[in-house]
Amino acid sequence: MTVERIKLERLKDKVMTVQEAVDFFENDMVVGASGFTKAGDSKVVLEALAERAKKEDIKITLMTGASLGHDTDGKLAAAGALKKRMPFQVDRTLRNKINAGEVLFIDQHLSESAELLHNKNLPAVDIAVIEVAYIDRDGSLVLTTSVGNSATFAELAEKIIIEINTAIPMEVYGLHDIYKPENYPHRNVIPIVAPWNKIGRKTISVNPDKIVGIVFTDKKDSPADIAEPDAKTTAIAAHILNFFENEVQLGHLTDRLQPLQAGIGKVANAVLMGFKNSNFYDLTMFSEVLQDSTFDLIDAGKLSFASASSITVSEECYERVFNNLQRYRDKIVLRPQNISNTPGLIRRLGVIAINTAIEFDIYGNVNSTHIAGSKIMNGIGGSGDFARNAYLSIFVTQAASKNNTISHVLPMVSHVDHTEHDVDVLVTDIGLADLRGLAPRERAQKIIENCVHPDFRTELQSYFDRACDRGGHTPHLLEEAFSWHLRLAETGTMKKLT
Ligand code: COA
Repeated sequence: MTVERIKLERLKDKVMTVQEAVDFFENDMVVGASGFTKAGDSKVVLEALAERAKKEDIKITLMTGASLGHDTDGKLAAAGALKKRMPFQVDRTLRNKINAGEVLFIDQHLSESAELLHNKNLPAVDIAVIEVAYIDRDGSLVLTTSVGNSATFAELAEKIIIEINTAIPMEVYGLHDIYKPENYPHRNVIPIVAPWNKIGRKTISVNPDKIVGIVFTDKKDSPADIAEPDAKTTAIAAHILNFFENEVQLGHLTDRLQPLQAGIGKVANAVLMGFKNSNFYDLTMFSEVLQDSTFDLIDAGKLSFASASSITVSEECYERVFNNLQRYRDKIVLRPQNISNTPGLIRRLGVIAINTAIEFDIYGNVNSTHIAGSKIMNGIGGSGDFARNAYLSIFVTQAASKNNTISHVLPMVSHVDHTEHDVDVLVTDIGLADLRGLAPRERAQKIIENCVHPDFRTELQSYFDRACDRGGHTPHLLEEAFSWHLRLAETGTMKKLT
């Protein structure tokens, strides 16, 4: 196993136990770890660090690509091992610690972390922990199911710990396209003009002298939670597909559409699954995560190529992909997240971006990250990278939740991630509002008519009408703007109790 997976002879004596590897960590270190939406994350070293932190005072700043699997964030948070975390998380335990003020969190556009590190706008990385399939003859790293920020961490970290994952077949070689934009002021054009362009190396080149430890694991990625489409997500998907069909009728799009980006979660999955029985064909994706639906659409002959930074799929799909790599290898590519999410490329390729909102307001401002203005849910992820620069920026959410006590369409959002200027189309299970070319007052009327749950429509219309009476370009009643949130907190429902 060692012989096969470590092809550079002089690195073979770096193999050690996980306990020995964990001894490299010191209090207050900055750690950069592989992992993007549960894929290609550290399976054993960070978990062992959490165990160590239960017994001694050791706290790190942890940067990753995006979320980690195997409850690793939760274990680290519960053990008190995290001082600061960036750029994204989805873990309940960690979220509670962040909201309690016990762990500091920087919620960052996913394209930006690597830029900030290269520009020395973040503290230097002490240790990188990187999952690989194998180490090549020149000491370069063949990655697994994600690229994330691994190339940046490997380049900038003082020391590197490698986790070789033997669950990943070595044939994964060739799936990755590692390209590093030049440092400023010498930045050149990133030469991608279509999702399928490959412009970089197949491996991450590193200085082998920085590799201080190599451990082995055979743990697979945590499977993605795939929720079956339900009535609401199916309705949202239908509204979006109708909208696309209309755009084709109008001659705005062809039935190949434009490269698609879809956020994670059940709505995105339902929308993409909807393409299976549609007239659209030869579709492409320029996204950040490849989900089950990506591979289903490839199998159905609907999707020709998909570019992203990770493969985050269910157990069944994971087996399908890695037992049939030959079938997929010329149809997918995994890139560093500062390439998959580069604003300039998203604009150049004319990406259609579909992301999920927690809530949006009558003028089209979107909150993707905070409950009731203060409590972080997950983070902005890549939604901001895509939304602002997309050819079409679409946000979806259910109109109401929790027995219709919560409206997701509000007078004013309690936190803004995507401003009204970045949002083209809003969709709920009730309907779709195409906001393009509309001024704020026109937008509000369209959103109220098309997207709001009927239980809340009259009150939202009344809010807007009374705000208009008071005047303004974007009329509001500031004393009432957050009254729905306040009512929910006080009475358990956003509805006016009569
Ligand atoms: N007060 C209290 N709770 C509220 C609320 C409010 N004002 N507004 C919404 N909620 C609750 C909902 O009731 C629901 O609760 P539940 O989880 O107990 O059912 C929850 O917030 C939102 O859940 P849901 O609508 O099912 O959202 P989701 O699981 O589809 O996730 C995001 C939505 C926005 C959290 C998720 O998509 C995300 O993290 N996005 C940001 C990152 C991103 O977009 N990445 C894209 C590139 S991959």
